[in-house]
Amino acid sequence: MNSTDQPRAWWWPLATSQQLGSRKPLARVLHGRPLVLFRDSHGHPAALPDRCPHRLAPLSDGCVRDGTVECPYHGWRFDQAGHCNQAPGSLEQRSRVPLLQPLQTCEAHGLVWARDAAAADDRPPCAPTPSENALDVFWVHDQVRCSLLEAAENFLDAFHTHFVHAGWIRRDTQRQRVIADVRAIDYGVEARYSEEGLQAGLISRLLEGSRGESFGRFLLPGLAEIEYRDRSGRLNLLISAWLVPAESGRLQLIARVATRRGLLPGWVKRLALRPLFGVILAQDKSMLEAISANHQHFAHCADTWGPTHPLDSRQDLLGPWIRQLLEKGQLEGFVASRQELKL
Ligand code: FES
Ligand SMILES: [Fe+2]
Repeated sequence: MNSTDQPRAWWWPLATSQQLGSRKPLARVLHGRPLVLFRDSHGHPAALPDRCPHRLAPLSDGCVRDGTVECPYHGWRFDQAGHCNQAPGSLEQRSRVPLLQPLQTCEAHGLVWARDAAAADDRPPCAPTPSENALDVFWVHDQVRCSLLEAAENFLDAFHTHFVHAGWIRRDTQRQRVIADVRAIDYGVEARYSEEGLQAGLISRLLEGSRGESFGRFLLPGLAEIEYRDRSGRLNLLISAWLVPAESGRLQLIARVATRRGLLPGWVKRLALRPLFGVILAQDKSMLEAISANHQHFAHCADTWGPTHPLDSRQDLLGPWIRQLLEKGQLEGFVASRQELKL
């Protein structure tokens, strides 16, 4: 992925299928480009630049009529291909050429995806890891002022949890010896932690009866996953977080939280877990935004204090590989590793 426009060739999720109804368009930003999402007359998702060609009004402030998006200013209507189907006051029916350039869209895994039609390649949307269990699922949405790299690394870095999430995920005073294996996977990298008992924090106590092994994985273009399994290998928790670059320094986060279907109904778990994950997300967000701002501040001091490259340690199991994947589009010189750590 050397060329700067290649990330646009991948599918990026912009909303859950449920968020995109048939009446109200949604405003999204992807790689710095404001988009309007809506459903066409067949119910398929469509994505156009969020800018009416007439006087540049945001189409996302309008509404959806008969599968077209209607501009709120003078009521011009645009179909999924970017044609103007109706310009009130005019006798002409349909623009001969598209007035707006559509993105390619699809719907998969409970999400609406878009990509640049011109740059598209044949890789499918990046799916969550399949699980053999029946799952209860809910979604979490947020925006974070940081880069994709910063967010992916934070999400998959187990060694900040003792401090940023002390008592919620782990405690510095109750570390355990674990074996960490790092391996390359298709379009990504994965860490597997074995021989860790239950974590000292609240989340583990609430969600898990036992801990067999856990995984942290990153997949291009921007999916970070955390997976907990019990001693019988059954899934307890799978968080799949798509980190979508909205614009420089701002990410849209769409996370799918899946738990094994069990004694408690899904809605009870959702009610209990959503606020807990909200606390953890707020803790991460505050650290990430401080880091990202610091990065910017110190970028101006490079001539006096040297460049602000991160200093990797043995505990940074995935961070350096995520950086490489994002910069080069693949792993280079990767060597699988196994080490013992105190987590
Ligand atoms: S600005 Fe959209 S119809 Fe005039
Ligand atoms: Fe965190």
